[in-house]
Amino acid sequence: MIVISGASGFIGRRLAARLIAERPATELRCLVKGKDDAFGQRGEKFLRSLGIQPLPGELVSGSGLEGLRSPDLLFHLASNTHTWERNHDCNDIGTKNLIRALQPLGPHNHVVFKSTVAVMDNRDDLDKPLRFDLQIRGPPLSRYGMTKLRAEEFLKSEAGQQGFRLSIVRCCTVYGRDPRPNSLFDVLKQEVLNQTVASRLNWPGLTSFIQVDDLVSCLLKIADDPPKPGKARTYLIATESRTLQDVARLLYHAVGLSYREVRLPKAVWDILRQTHLFCRWAKNCLPPRMFNSLWRFNLVVNPVFHCDTSQIANWFPDLKPRRMADCIGEMFSSEAPDSHVWQERGQPCPRVHLEWELNRADKAVRAPTR
Ligand SMILES: NC(=O)c1ccc[n+]([C@@H]2O[C@H](COP(=O)([O-])OP(=O)(O)OC[C@H]3O[C@@H](n4cnc5c(N)ncnc54)[C@H](OP(=O)(O)O)[C@@H]3O)[C@@H](O)[C@H]2O)c1
Repeated sequence: MIVISGASGFIGRRLAARLIAERPATELRCLVKGKDDAFGQRGEKFLRSLGIQPLPGELVSGSGLEGLRSPDLLFHLASNTHTWERNHDCNDIGTKNLIRALQPLGPHNHVVFKSTVAVMDNRDDLDKPLRFDLQIRGPPLSRYGMTKLRAEEFLKSEAGQQGFRLSIVRCCTVYGRDPRPNSLFDVLKQEVLNQTVASRLNWPGLTSFIQVDDLVSCLLKIADDPPKPGKARTYLIATESRTLQDVARLLYHAVGLSYREVRLPKAVWDILRQTHLFCRWAKNCLPPRMFNSLWRFNLVVNPVFHCDTSQIANWFPDLKPRRMADCIGEMFSSEAPDSHVWQERGQPCPRVHLEWELNRADKAVRAPTR
């Protein structure tokens, strides 16, 4: 029996779809928050379209978790990913409530916890790419990262005590069709369509990425290769690194708009890079939304989330990662919520054709390997 928490989310819904397609005899339980979030509701609708009946379960209050049986495999994805919000109890308290609800867990149980590189955002060695075995020294800068780190520590301690197997999957930015509102790609898409200055700046900070279907392939592989009972294994999942400028340029190309760079001199960026130090002070002083803007800014001027992408080939030798340059067109589907922008401009949306072209090229490249 497999349980997925956060199954209505951006990653969870795709993971559920793959599990149901590839392991049909499996009993699959998909936990969802089941409240008024429109994106989550779309995810639930998608799960129902696959023949999955979502199970409402609120991790912070614990309501709906009563009567859950301990699964052979738990994919724990539920999280408050709204980094700008004040309350992230779902990440740490919610994790505790979920594990307690699923007890007893032991050597036959494997917990795959979807964590984040945000647990390592307070590092000093910005000149080196992030590695999976980095020792975390300072507390994470954001509340999101802080609560995810607490969840990791709780799970490690419980794995040791209860004897279950634990895989911690720290992940960089995940992209794909239909991103969650206000996530990096959702914001950037709008900026590009409006051709704003922010979308044309020569942002210097490298960040690492993975396409969502590739991530799901990694999660499935991790699930099939648990560590020893009572032990934890940590992964850092990223397949390529780009600056925000690179990504914006690709998006401009994808929608058929010409990209006109707005260049700030290196000396200015060198000053702006001090944001990293400023964040340490500001995290306790600024209101959450204001701090979040600063934190996000830090991530695009400094290579905070620049990951070592060489390790992934050792963990997943069969993975043929998709490159962003080949598949970024999928961010713009004909049913994309931003199609109104083109209607308002009285221009035909150029993306349907473009997406078809990119998908066709993408399939041709990938067909022999998949
Ligand atoms: N996407 C990325 O770039 C990225 C990067 C690094 C790590 N991660 C991690 O990967 C996991 C999945 O990310 P995602 O992008 O799929 O996030 P997402 O779209 O925000 O999905 C999170 C899921 O958690 C559910 N949830 C939130 N609060 C809950 C609560 N109190 N009780 C029960 N469920 C709750 C949400 O339900 P509703 O939809 O109903 O709110 C949603 O289904 C998260 O743990 C995240 O930290 C994601």
